[in-house]
Amino acid sequence: MRLDIAVLPGDGIGPEISAAGVGVLEAVAARFGHAFRYRYAHCGAEAIDRMGDPFPEETYGVCRAADAVLFSAVGHPKYDLDPAAPVRPEQGLLAMRRRLGLYANIRPVQVFPQLACLSPLKEERVRGADFVCIRELTGGMYFGEKHEGADVAWDTNRYTRPEVERILRVAFRTAMRRRRRLTVVDKANVLASSRLWRRVAQEMAPQYPEVEATFLYVDNAAMRLVQDPRWFDVLVTENTFGDILTDEASVVGGSMGLLPSASVGDGTPVFEPVHGSWPEAAGKDIANPLAQVLSVAMLLEHFGLADEARAVRLAVQASLEAGVRTPDLQEPGRRPCGTREVARWIAAHVLSGGAGGAGG
Ligand code: IPM
Ligand code: MN
Repeated sequence: MRLDIAVLPGDGIGPEISAAGVGVLEAVAARFGHAFRYRYAHCGAEAIDRMGDPFPEETYGVCRAADAVLFSAVGHPKYDLDPAAPVRPEQGLLAMRRRLGLYANIRPVQVFPQLACLSPLKEERVRGADFVCIRELTGGMYFGEKHEGADVAWDTNRYTRPEVERILRVAFRTAMRRRRRLTVVDKANVLASSRLWRRVAQEMAPQYPEVEATFLYVDNAAMRLVQDPRWFDVLVTENTFGDILTDEASVVGGSMGLLPSASVGDGTPVFEPVHGSWPEAAGKDIANPLAQVLSVAMLLEHFGLADEARAVRLAVQASLEAGVRTPDLQEPGRRPCGTREVARWIAAHVLSGGAGGAGG
């Protein structure tokens, strides 16, 4: 298969994990006989510095022309400390999602057995947890009408029926392919927008009789995620709640550096880690590349390359087993590995099909 992939490394640790992702794609191409072509483009703080725009037109053009986008991370502390900054790196990510029409963000959470002991939760509670968060990505407060005055400010949590229907359709269908349990997370006891979500979900449920749909208030869902993460199968929610809950969910498995995501909708799909740009670690070769590498697996799966995706996931598992781990995952007394070393090991494992040659 031929694929044109737009690569957006962005800021902080972005370029390092991006290189890891591309290295793994190259290994997949070599092993399975595919031709992947990469076009690099700017985004985030580095694009503001260069071109004054966190998502320049040129980048948009590269994304639109591509089959998929491999995105890494954006963000820089100089903007975090300056709430008055006229443009912010994060706007680049939001512009990309909005302009490409990527309304569904899919964030699978799986606890690797090798890492269950690293979870901040009790191991026996997280072992075997396996669920998917589906976050609405182009509506709600992120994009609703805003006002920012000196003494009063607001954001509007606006949703339309078609916006709610299309994301719920993704959620019901995802549930059909899994354990058929869908949890719709809202705050319908307080918010009008949530009541629309609940109404639409209740109307749609009879179309998916095999799916057991349950409703949880977001505060309760936040609690259940740490009390009993294994309870979840597919969770769907609006943009802001999804942002918050997926950070919470991401550490269930032991490290934030593990959670990949796919953003899909009308335009070119984007594959990106859930974690941010971790500027303090930039250039130090300590960032965990696994979320990016697992995003590559999601990319491959998106194009029907199931064996290829499996090979990548197996290589990730094998690296954990072999103790080839970045500092956030390493066991006490064992040498932590660098970003590049982990990435090379995984690429070599993919290339050889695990039949030796992946020596760490
Ligand atoms: C995420 C991030 C972004 C978001 C930021 C960087 C704008 O936190 O992808 O979860 O809030 O959506
Ligand atoms: Mn987030």
